This record gives sequence, C-alpha cells and structure tokens, in this order.
Amino acid sequence: MTDTPITIELPKWYDLHAHFRQDEMIAPLIKGHIAMGCAGILAMPNTKPPVGKIFKSDPGNYTSIEHYSSVLRSDGGDTLKEIIVPLYLTTEMTPALITRGAEMGMLKCAKYYPPHGTTGAELGAPLETYVENGVFAAMEGAGVVLNIHGEEHALPAEQYFDRTTNAEELFYRERLPRIVDQFPNLKIVGEHLTTKIATDFISAAPDHIVATVTPQHLLYTIGHLLQGFKYHLYCLPLIKFEEDREALRAAVTHPGNDKFFAGTDSAPHTTKATECGCAAGCYTGAIAPQLYAQSFELAGVDLSDENEQEIFKNFLCFNGPDFYGLDIPTETFTLQKFPQEIEPLKIGKNTIVPLPLGMQSDTNEPCTIPWRIV
Ligand code: DOR
Ligand code: ZN
Repeated sequence: MTDTPITIELPKWYDLHAHFRQDEMIAPLIKGHIAMGCAGILAMPNTKPPVGKIFKSDPGNYTSIEHYSSVLRSDGGDTLKEIIVPLYLTTEMTPALITRGAEMGMLKCAKYYPPHGTTGAELGAPLETYVENGVFAAMEGAGVVLNIHGEEHALPAEQYFDRTTNAEELFYRERLPRIVDQFPNLKIVGEHLTTKIATDFISAAPDHIVATVTPQHLLYTIGHLLQGFKYHLYCLPLIKFEEDREALRAAVTHPGNDKFFAGTDSAPHTTKATECGCAAGCYTGAIAPQLYAQSFELAGVDLSDENEQEIFKNFLCFNGPDFYGLDIPTETFTLQKFPQEIEPLKIGKNTIVPLPLGMQSDTNEPCTIPWRIV
C-alpha cells in the first residue's frame, strides 16, 4: 500500500506583491495566479507609463489606478475578490493627490521606487522628496500604506554590493528608521526583504510595519545565482547570503509570526539576458504556494503536522489580508506533496521561464517541483 501524500487544504490567498504588466501579457499572468489559488492580487504599478495618477481625468501622462484596475479586471481578474493597485510615487506626486484619492476610496497604498533602482523605477524620486513635500504626511494622515522597495539608490558600486554592506542594509539601517521616527503612524510594508538587517528591523518595529517575502529569497542564496550564472534568479533586491536566508526563514516560520507574509514579486520578463545586462525579476506565477511550501520544509517545518501547517497558513493566507483589512476567503485550494512538472509560459511569440526551470543548466530538460496544487 502506498502512503497518501501530505495534503493541505488552505483558504485561497492573496499575492500582495506581483507584476502583471500590460497588453497581451495580463490575461495569461492573471490566469496563472488564479490557478495557484489566489483570491486577490496587489498589482505593482511599474507599467509603462507607470500608474502615477488615480483617475483617468487627472493630469499627467501616467496610467491611472482607475484604468489599470479595470484592465486587470476585464483581462481575467473579474473573478478575484480583490485587486489592489498601489500608486507609483513619481517625481510629480503631491499631498493633494494622495488626500483626494484616499477620500474617494480609490487609494489604499503607494509604492516607493528608488530612482533607477530596478525595472521601471526611472520615475521614482529620492525618499527625502516625499518627506519634504508632504506626501508621506498626507499618507500617514489618510491611512494610506507605503510599500517600500528598500534599497539606497545611486550608490557607488563598492557600496551597492560589498562583503560588509549593500543597498538594502544601508536603507534599513539609516534611511527607514528616520522615516519611522518622523511618521510614527505611517503604515509601511517592506517589500521583498532579502537581508537579516531588514528582517530584524521589521521584527522589532511597531505592529503597523510589516514585510513581504518572496519564494526565491527563502529558497536560494547568492551562490545559486553565481554558480553557472543562473540569470533567471537575477532579481532586485539581489538574493543575498546564507545568514540572510536563515533570518528570513526564521522570521516566516516563527510560530508567532504575524508580520511577514506572502508577496511573490513574480516578475515576468520575456528577455532576461541581453548583450549588456540582465533584466531583474523572477517569474513564480502558477507555482508560488508550491515553492513557499518547499521553502518551509527546507526551513525545518513539518508540513505533515497540523500545528505546523498553521504556521504556513499564517504566512500564506492570514497575515497579509489581516494587515490590509481584507476578508479571508471561505473558498479553499489544496496543496499536495507530489512532484509536479513545470513548463515555460508561452505568450504569443514570447516565452517566460519560471524560476525553478531557469535554475537548470538546460531549460529544455524536464523540471519538477516537490509540491503540486490539486
Ligand atoms: O526583480 C525585480 N523585478 N524587482 C523589482 O523591483 C521589479 C521587478 C520587475 O518589475 O521586473
Ligand atoms: Zn516587485
């Protein structure tokens, strides 16, 4: 007789950080999220042009939250319980726009991008801009969440990534503590944490300061990226060291964790490596709960034990919606410990390589992951 594989029924979950892009990309990407049990998504605003205004009628050559949300809905997202689109904090952002958007019920959160710090971050302004121009004060006053890509920008290469420091550590050591002191009621999500320094900062911060963690930062280290230069693992902030991965794993698997939650940062690129660089972003759509489950097991969580399954549920299903004030869905989906073969995602003439497949030396070889959705 064969053993029944471990099977976990979970409430549908919210991916509270993902990229759905534009045009013909949107529908297949949303489909992948629905296939992995998502009840809702937070769709990042680094489109072209970025989601830098609220209503179509607002001035400026930006995409609006109104428009982008309706496109996401009509391209397959209409069955989701929730689509949150943060406002991109551009160089032109004003406190008046924030206050009005919040009053009209169209603005839940806004995203800080370090200028030129990552894909689509060209229109971000330095963090201090929003301290000085009243944008953070307006957000704090209106209860608008600040989603932070926490990396110091415009650093010399020696400080950007060095043996003793890096852009994220500098940001969480020197920049964010000052924001928290100046705006004590500002709700903050540290997005896609990668370091022990950032993890410790979030753990010690007040309850309204929380963080998302991606599958890749729980699974891999910089060694995995560099050994054979697996550029599908190139994302920003960069994957870090074993000590950092340990701190992230300890935070998400702590039985009392109520601050760290799932935000995949699934970021599809149709061309990853170019002649002079590499696009940042890992695609984990359709398989993220499977990868999170794998990472929890690697962190020592026994997912066959019902009590330990609760720790996984807190991270995947409860902490995020609790923070954003979203309902926990009554609908469920089921994860099973049974190998699943994964395939590239074809969109028109383009191919998107999901992360674990991109870690192989030959992406044409079959690739399996230890968990599947049934
Ligand atoms: O790796 C990343 N990819 N980091 C980001 O901050 C943006 C994202 C993307 O949009 O591709
Ligand atoms: Zn992102």
